[in-house]
Amino acid sequence: MAPNIVLLPGDGIGPEIVESARRVLDAVGSFEYERYLVGGASIDANGTALTDEVLDACRAADAVLLGAVGGPKWDTTDPDAPRPEQGLLGLRKGLGLFANLRPVKPSPALVDASPLRPEVIAGTDLLVVRELTGGIYFGDRGREGDRAFDTCVYTVAEVERIARVGFEAAQRRRGRVTSVDKANVIETSRLWRQTVSELAGGYGDVDLDHMLVDNAAMQLVSDPARFDVILTENMFGDILSDESAMLTGSLGMLPSASLGDGGPGVFEPVHGSAPDIAGSGAANPLATVLSAAMLLRDGLGMADEAATIEAAVDAVLASGLRTADLASGADGERQVGTAEVTEALLAALASGGEPPAPE
Ligand code: IPM
Ligand code: MG
Repeated sequence: MAPNIVLLPGDGIGPEIVESARRVLDAVGSFEYERYLVGGASIDANGTALTDEVLDACRAADAVLLGAVGGPKWDTTDPDAPRPEQGLLGLRKGLGLFANLRPVKPSPALVDASPLRPEVIAGTDLLVVRELTGGIYFGDRGREGDRAFDTCVYTVAEVERIARVGFEAAQRRRGRVTSVDKANVIETSRLWRQTVSELAGGYGDVDLDHMLVDNAAMQLVSDPARFDVILTENMFGDILSDESAMLTGSLGMLPSASLGDGGPGVFEPVHGSAPDIAGSGAANPLATVLSAAMLLRDGLGMADEAATIEAAVDAVLASGLRTADLASGADGERQVGTAEVTEALLAALASGGEPPAPE
């Protein structure tokens, strides 16, 4: 039976980039799809960013591909109003997706697209392993008159299970984990550091070092090649992964996988819904296409098909096609929209990964 993939296009550019990725998936395999609303689109239709029906459909699926949620229409500072982001957070929590993997490996064709100098980016190949269902994102929060609070909570068990993911990823990579925390100030970070250190004893083949998050933010743009696996908590991982995206040239290049204990994972680009360019056909679909590749590899065990898609992405970039977010003005570039990038990917896949012929 064909694997069942739930598509959650969401808001803004979400529907355009998910459609692009779906066409790419269809070029490498046979899948069944179900489509549902999430985020602002679901708020408009149902009054809530994630319905039980959608959560149940995701639970029953083999994997979930998500576009993006949010937009100015639903921006509010009212603590009681529904927010699109609750759809994403509800999905992560509801499916138990505690491990968020965000690989950062600049495509060789894109060294000119990054605002950082090529010699700084050279050799970058890192994986952010972000804890996704704990910390300040999910602790008690509230308002009391002119006072507001958010609580950051971690248990040893929560730290251990994400640390294992980090150590095991390092074993398959270059054997190095940098655990990022703020242990000089924050108690949850001290528990984090202690727990990760104790667990390291069971991974003799992995080198572990600890780094404070402010220092990590600096090292990421001064010496990114020093990192292999960056293991960190929810909020720090959110911030450091957007920062890492600049190493690849654009937030539009960064895919992610959110995984739990065996159930279906959610695969989504790291970027947001880009409401300013929604509907204009200018969106870069590559982070979603690369997320679809992660869906195949990590969600469905289809590693060969995943590699085929990744090779097609590299081939298209090598041919000089660039969406606006990637354009550097260099010779040999041609600025195109979502549709042309998608057609070029399909052409590369149809021709066995050969770059599309120049026009
Ligand atoms: C991300 C996003 C989300 C997060 C938002 C949309 C809730 O920024 O996936 O990085 O903060 O986790
Ligand atoms: Mg983020």
